[in-house]
Amino acid sequence: MSADTPMTYQSGFGNEFASEAIDGVLPVGQNSPQRVAHGLYAEQLSGTAFTAPRHGNRRSWLYRIRPAAVHEPFAPLPHATFHNRFDEAPATPNQLRWDALPVPSAPTDFVDGLVTMAGNGGPAEQAGIGLHIYAANRSMKGRFFYDADGELLIVPQQGSLRIATELGVLEIEPQEIAMIPRGVRFRVELVDGEARGYVCENFGALFRLPDLGPIGSNCLANARDFLTPHAAYEDVDGDFELIAKFQGALWSAKIDHSPLDVVGWHGNYAPYKYDLRRFNTIGSISFDHPDPSIFTVLTSPSDTPGTANVDMAIFPPRWLVAQHTFRPPWFHRNVASEFMGLITGVYDAKAEGFVPGGASLHNCMSGHGPDAATFEKASAADLSQAHVIEGTMAFMFETRKVIRPTRQALDAPQLQNDYHKCWQGIRKHFDAERT
Ligand SMILES: [Fe+2]
Repeated sequence: MSADTPMTYQSGFGNEFASEAIDGVLPVGQNSPQRVAHGLYAEQLSGTAFTAPRHGNRRSWLYRIRPAAVHEPFAPLPHATFHNRFDEAPATPNQLRWDALPVPSAPTDFVDGLVTMAGNGGPAEQAGIGLHIYAANRSMKGRFFYDADGELLIVPQQGSLRIATELGVLEIEPQEIAMIPRGVRFRVELVDGEARGYVCENFGALFRLPDLGPIGSNCLANARDFLTPHAAYEDVDGDFELIAKFQGALWSAKIDHSPLDVVGWHGNYAPYKYDLRRFNTIGSISFDHPDPSIFTVLTSPSDTPGTANVDMAIFPPRWLVAQHTFRPPWFHRNVASEFMGLITGVYDAKAEGFVPGGASLHNCMSGHGPDAATFEKASAADLSQAHVIEGTMAFMFETRKVIRPTRQALDAPQLQNDYHKCWQGIRKHFDAERT
């Protein structure tokens, strides 16, 4: 399959995949024969330590026109808004919320259009996350990007993306997500002219599916719904640019060919996509709420069992049927810190103000929950009727470390300085004489 051929995908999560764009490219019974078919080079791409336990070991073998080593030296590439400087401003216990960043009017591609909002840890620490928003109005042309600091979880909010990677092409639309593994080179093309969305840059352990415990062997995100591309290559020479993100900064090198020149590959370290609408929700059918961990799509574990480096949870359409229960998400304070985004619709804990493309941040032990209007409405709701939430998709990146907003995020005109007021209307109902 060439890079322009309509694609199909390989199904499964972390499977041993094998794909060849030309029949017979993959060696049989070995990885690096003396001569690879069609004059290709063999190259291993490791995503975990060589000696990582087998169940979490990730690597792929690429059979390509030129090895990844073939390019000119890198030089620093300044970028005004995309970085990992999470110590520029004091971390704040205030509840924060932002309107959507505008799509720029000047020519801006995916890499140009990345704006770092917040983060914790860093690439040197091999723990934590970077939280970015992209807003772009043109495809990457003649330039390719890879992130040596972490895998990239891309969450489109507006506009479909065609992501051409070394291992094949992913097409995603809003309510789908894509994962680009650390180190994999790619180019983002905008299908709809303009695009905006979120990126979680994961410096820690690779995202994986959460354990299901008593839920059993099905539900939440099912492994078969994760889709990995087939091999697709470009045999193109030209005056191109290879951009690397390395230890928090960008670097640029000239390259005289497309690095998307992998004709065949096999292994379990590969990009994938997932349609969030396929997430099978689990919830209460009696009373009260499970913790929101029940909505975890993917988790990046930390060294502490049960305590994630980052979880991605979603709040999709679902039925609310719990009796004797305040049905929206309740007031809470957590040891974890929460960065939320909204892809479409209305989030059921907020009446207004949390807009598609916007974001909110509730840090460790910062109180938050439904706004006053939502509280009053839900407190008076008729619980004899089931209620269906439709047409919405919110998500949350929840981390064990405090999330530190960047200076540019705190100075952005999109920061809602009156966000705290959504709780000021909450009235005292207490009456010691009333039951
Ligand atoms: Fe929360």
